[in-house]
Amino acid sequence: MSRIVYVNGEYLPEEDAKISVFDRGFLFADGVYEVTSVLNGKLVDFDGHARRLQRSLDELDMPNPVTTEELLEINRELIARNGLDEGGVYLQITRGAADRDFAYPADPKPTIVLFTLVMNISGSPKAETGLKVISIEDQRWGRRDIKTVQLLYPSMGKMMAKAAGADDAWMVEEGVVTEGTSNNAYIVTKDGKIVTRQLSNAILHGITRAAVLRMAEEAQMVVEERPFTIEEAQNAAEAFITSATTFVTPVVEIDGAALGDGAPGPIAKRLREIYMDEARAKAI
Ligand code: PDD
Repeated sequence: MSRIVYVNGEYLPEEDAKISVFDRGFLFADGVYEVTSVLNGKLVDFDGHARRLQRSLDELDMPNPVTTEELLEINRELIARNGLDEGGVYLQITRGAADRDFAYPADPKPTIVLFTLVMNISGSPKAETGLKVISIEDQRWGRRDIKTVQLLYPSMGKMMAKAAGADDAWMVEEGVVTEGTSNNAYIVTKDGKIVTRQLSNAILHGITRAAVLRMAEEAQMVVEERPFTIEEAQNAAEAFITSATTFVTPVVEIDGAALGDGAPGPIAKRLREIYMDEARAKAI
């Protein structure tokens, strides 16, 4: 059975799901996206993703073709039609098709596409072994708080990591880590503080980040929102990443230097458990 994809109001088999070659998402990367994870057929933190989607659209002056209620309905319908148990729903909204012009069209007709992704997030082997990361220069644009589909540099970063025998790359700007190619980055200091960069236009405001920091504080852990260097990270007790597709996943090596004993640390493991329990309990 082929996957059913949602395109501009229709549910279609993926081979029939098509958009225009003049779509501004294709020509200008003039589009935004969200990835919402799915556990047991239910959406994790749907409201957070819907709010960030609206913020990205507002920042780009792009109309939203659906209400939040309609979006929830479409997500649920897609999950049902595809029998998705665990994975995610990818959503993309672009400014739609228009004759190629750098200026936005006066009367845009946005394109909306959603499709499901089958993923084993809860049982990911990387949660057990931990990730190896390399550091690379952050060469992305200056509005990383907007979740646009301009993902070429993060893709290049992933390829640089692969070429180096690692899993992912952490990006560094002005000597400090911004974030991972598609995740937020954290370290745990030797005295047990969780450190992650503060929110600004330099990073994506992760929905998983917000939930994990809240849960850490509820569990009486100390959180420090500040930048850190690769050197500080290499000397930290632990490190980890968060995102909708990885939840909390430990990092065990940075630029070839093993952290601690080279195995996933207890704080990252604990946060992953707490996050998964709450995600399962609150998914809708
Ligand atoms: N990426 N930082 C970047 C650059 C990201 O692309 C992502 C998510 C995050 C984590 O955000 P969240 O916790 O809301 O997923 C941080 C998604 C998963 C992706 O591109 O596939």
